[in-house]
Amino acid sequence: MKTKTRYKREKNKEIFVKESIHTPLITKKDKSKIFYENDRIKIINDDIITTTEIPENSIDLIITSPPYNVDIKYNLHNDKISYSDYLDFTRKWLKKCYDLTKNDGRFCLNIPLDKNKGGQQSVCADITTIAKQVGWKYHSTIIWNEGNISRRTAWGSFMSASAPYVIAPVEVIVVLYKQNWKKTSGSLISDIDKKEFMAWTNGLWTFSGESKKRVGHPAPFPIELPKRCIKLFSFIDDVVLDPFMGSGTTLIAAYLNKRYSIGVDIDKSYCKLAYKRLNSETELNQQNLFAIRM
Ligand SMILES: C[S@@+](CC[C@H](N)C(=O)[O-])C[C@H]1O[C@@H](n2cnc3c(N)ncnc32)[C@H](O)[C@@H]1O
Repeated sequence: MKTKTRYKREKNKEIFVKESIHTPLITKKDKSKIFYENDRIKIINDDIITTTEIPENSIDLIITSPPYNVDIKYNLHNDKISYSDYLDFTRKWLKKCYDLTKNDGRFCLNIPLDKNKGGQQSVCADITTIAKQVGWKYHSTIIWNEGNISRRTAWGSFMSASAPYVIAPVEVIVVLYKQNWKKTSGSLISDIDKKEFMAWTNGLWTFSGESKKRVGHPAPFPIELPKRCIKLFSFIDDVVLDPFMGSGTTLIAAYLNKRYSIGVDIDKSYCKLAYKRLNSETELNQQNLFAIRM
């Protein structure tokens, strides 16, 4: 691990700031799949289904958006397979996530409600059923209203009852847990305020999606999504995992909200992107996070 720590006195203040100076790891000889690691964050460049880098029963909260199988052009992952192969793949990673989670751990799973592209499918219902088959317990479903009606181009039979298409411009966040819904492990310190709690326990969330162009990834979610899940469903210092990390949005939200985080992506270029985003989008908060009063 190439991480050095030094303490720097802040200008005119009785505060010492712990600075971590990191360089991404991995040489060709290095067998470890750890792409980057500091005292709060770990980025793993590996396949979530086969990775051995994360201990079982160690995760407090999983937040993720898996590939949707809608022909998105990822660098490595093939996002256009048959629906039955897609559900086989889904079963494998749902089981792996289950094994990695603590008994009182939770899972916020962002998936489509249904799918129209390449044939109608009840994606949310099918994935929720598989999740329960591998052991997950169902808690609730949050509807994420992206408010994106501009994508409405498929009408089916326009103005005719012969074969119209109905499309809800929403996604869902299925909330699951491993064994006990009541969380008894960890710091037991919550940081959600009254206004947030009242608003977010209403399971209809309305906020915009993230720009692919701004982030440089073909399917990012906005930071608001993991932020809400983290504050609502985990304690300070809990361990948050995103098994399909992409551009690292979950890790940024976790870091900014004082949680530990682990991200896994099969694609090294997305690991690099997540590392870059973490540096550029969290540096302001880094000082607060690591400030030590002497
Ligand atoms: C929908 S994107 C996640 C985007 C992320 N939520 C964000 O905000 O950037 C899915 C990601 O899963 C990755 N992926 C696909 N198959 C994987 C696997 N078997 N193991 C780990 N990562 C995988 C893809 O490379 C892609 O970056």
